[in-house]
Amino acid sequence: MFQEIRENNTYKMFLDGNWLKSENYIKIYSPIDNEFLGSIPAMSEKNVLEAIDSCEKNFKNWKDMPFFDRCKILLSSADKLFENREEIANILTKEISKDYKSSLAEVVRSVDLIREIVAEGKRINGEVLFGDRMSSQTKNKLCIVSREAIGTVLAISPFNYPINLSVSKIAPALIMGNTVLFKPATQGSISALLLIRTLELGGLPKGIINTVIGKGSIIGPIISKSSKIGMVNFTGSTSIGESLSNSFGMIPMTMELGGKDAAIVLSDADLEDAADNIVQGAFSYSGQRCTAIKRVLVMKDVSEKLNKLIKEKVSKLTVGNPFDNCIITPLISDDAANFVEKLIDDAVLKGAIRYTTGKRNKNLLYPTILENVSLDMDIAFEEPFGPVLPIIEVDSIQEAIEINNKSIYGLQSSIFGKNIDKIFNIAEKLECGTVNINGKSERGPDNFPFLGIKSSGMGVQGIRYSLEASSRIKSIVLNKK
Ligand code: G3H
Repeated sequence: MFQEIRENNTYKMFLDGNWLKSENYIKIYSPIDNEFLGSIPAMSEKNVLEAIDSCEKNFKNWKDMPFFDRCKILLSSADKLFENREEIANILTKEISKDYKSSLAEVVRSVDLIREIVAEGKRINGEVLFGDRMSSQTKNKLCIVSREAIGTVLAISPFNYPINLSVSKIAPALIMGNTVLFKPATQGSISALLLIRTLELGGLPKGIINTVIGKGSIIGPIISKSSKIGMVNFTGSTSIGESLSNSFGMIPMTMELGGKDAAIVLSDADLEDAADNIVQGAFSYSGQRCTAIKRVLVMKDVSEKLNKLIKEKVSKLTVGNPFDNCIITPLISDDAANFVEKLIDDAVLKGAIRYTTGKRNKNLLYPTILENVSLDMDIAFEEPFGPVLPIIEVDSIQEAIEINNKSIYGLQSSIFGKNIDKIFNIAEKLECGTVNINGKSERGPDNFPFLGIKSSGMGVQGIRYSLEASSRIKSIVLNKK
């Protein structure tokens, strides 16, 4: 099944429908134990330009293919992905150190996502509008609204969901008739190549998806000079998002960037339930999720009780090997662990009280709670992307809203409490894309709108919204005589 794409652990690039060797390679090691997992192509400028040209050359045939046939290919690819879920989850676990159960769930979630994208794709294509719905306007005009492909979609996925956050970009783009230039994160590329193989086996014609693999800092400038990219769909850091936006100028973009999701805990909250949600939300996959809960804003009168519950639950978090399904696993790199540790040290230096369940071992950081956090600490506003949770006490709801909004980010927030009127009033005032009532922040279910405001993103994802974003409206007006 995957023999085509590698020779002795040396992976190939997928260029114009062929698996080809590269001149240079990047070695990929597991963040779990430094095991050598394979070499991935470090594509040359020539390769990258060929990939872009292949997308351009094959666009017309793909967009002109009957919609039904595109659906069949995607559905058959979903079947291939499902058949190979265990092998893919196994590599995914090794490559990004995500616990095996969650890796498998990610692959299955992606199968489900492709199937639902196909189903929704069938629903959204076309409507007829009548001109005389506007009182002052004519009855003689009829508008036929359809959706058409944009061209080549540059899909850039992050390390933390190499399958799901690739599928969420690739599948809507393909079903709407676009070709895809696919740049996975370097750490995550092996899993992504397996995904591409399942699309190929599902019957995707040659040149409809082309990989660009290698160091983003080298490949990025080559792609960004191209005038052949029709749309960018990116998940990653805010700084790279900003630089993509500056380079590509006026083309449609969907971006999922950083976050600093707050959990606001009100005095009447069910504290046991809030603590459960907060600990799961903050620490699953060691906090390496854009939607992880990254700060708690708790009313002073319940903070002692809540902190105690959170600490009890954190002390039970399993730490270690992702193949043992531990919740806390080694972070993606030593640099990532150093960054988190620096934030913790800064907070402790400025008066935070640190609670942790163990000592750091290379890139394995034990879960850490920081109490007594104040707004002068970096951790109050920076996104750690690791297993640390700052707790900030607030005197009033107004203060919680102000701190929530005093952030460059605006992805999601959670409110825990019982008085629904009060909660709705707060929800309306929070500057973010989604407010979760009595639940942790999270992206799914994948048909819900998913968006960030301010530095957390551009555009809206979620099945229907992603299909709309991956296509443009063509409106044809019929003037009746
Ligand atoms: O890391 C960003 C992901 O979109 C978060 O998805 O909430 O399902 O973990 P999740």
